[in-house]
Amino acid sequence: MKILGIETSCDETSCSVVENGWKVLSNVIASQVNIHEKTGGVVPEVAAREHVLKIVPVLDECMALANCKWHDIDAVAVTKGPGLVSSLIIGTETASVISYVKEKPLVPVQHIAGHIYSNWLEVEEEIKFPILILTVSGGHNELILALGHNKFKVLGETLDDAAGEAFDKVARILGLGYPGGPVISKIAEKGNKNIFDLPRSYLEKGSFDFSFSGLKTAVLNEVKEYIKNNKLDDQFKADLAADFQEAVCDVLSEKLIWAYEKFPEIKEIHLAGGVSANLRLREIIQKKLSGKIKFRFPKSLLYCTDNAAMVASAGYYIFKGAENKYLPGTNIVPTTSFEIW
Ligand code: KG4
Ligand code: ZN
Repeated sequence: MKILGIETSCDETSCSVVENGWKVLSNVIASQVNIHEKTGGVVPEVAAREHVLKIVPVLDECMALANCKWHDIDAVAVTKGPGLVSSLIIGTETASVISYVKEKPLVPVQHIAGHIYSNWLEVEEEIKFPILILTVSGGHNELILALGHNKFKVLGETLDDAAGEAFDKVARILGLGYPGGPVISKIAEKGNKNIFDLPRSYLEKGSFDFSFSGLKTAVLNEVKEYIKNNKLDDQFKADLAADFQEAVCDVLSEKLIWAYEKFPEIKEIHLAGGVSANLRLREIIQKKLSGKIKFRFPKSLLYCTDNAAMVASAGYYIFKGAENKYLPGTNIVPTTSFEIW
């Protein structure tokens, strides 16, 4: 079964064809990073206009690379939300038009469910439930127990900033550009993580929720103190970035371990979302798990950040076995709500 996936929830315009939920036939991503770099973050109206310009060329390229004609496609899956509504609407309208004109069943996909399925891409073997999943992105941050396909229980989530958002904001404080994650992790390699004593917020004992806004404020305070007598220099930035990254990774990995201890029946642990690209985070989790359980993260960095292949995979598992529920000629309205599993 071949599913066409469409993803436009933030600043990536992406279309993909995935076969049977795992085999990626094409995954085209038009990134807007160069545009949003100038403003240090995503301006929704600018992102929406870019999606309008890119969606048709990206779709054409995706179908050509997959070597697919419309009669090869069994259904269309599209990100319904959460995300920026002005961005989401370009994807949902495109998908709705295809559903009418090409008479394809239309499957709405929750964006976080999309990230969850990034760990199915290019994986041929069976993935075993129950699974403990840490999703870490710019717009969201959850600890999830997956009991089966699309049977997700949210154990905890961020109370303020998501981990990726904290990376982006700290990069802005240090004048390092957007997105923050890749640049912070790069300069952290040259830094000493033991110079500062940045806080690790674990909240109350046993809580699976996250909070990173205090950490971001602590970074800001260190910078304010330093620039009273000094100019911001590369070594200061590297040291602060190294401790900041370590603090985020300590909290994320520790909560993952707490959840693993609470649910010993789980068979696999997965890491997903833009921050899953962070090598230090993967390393710390791997070390703490010390090979006791199967640990997966997306097979390609392209599957960590927003992409349509993960949406097509999630769409496959929603559609399979419920074909009558998702009819051709329907339309989907985007939502900002997280409550649409
Ligand atoms: O999943 P994603 O593409 O978008 C959302 O759904 O939010 O995640 C984007 C986030 C950004 O905040 C970016 O700074 C972060 O992922 N990110 C990273 C790395 N690469 C991307 N954070 C830490 N380390 C990285 N290597
Ligand atoms: Zn995302």
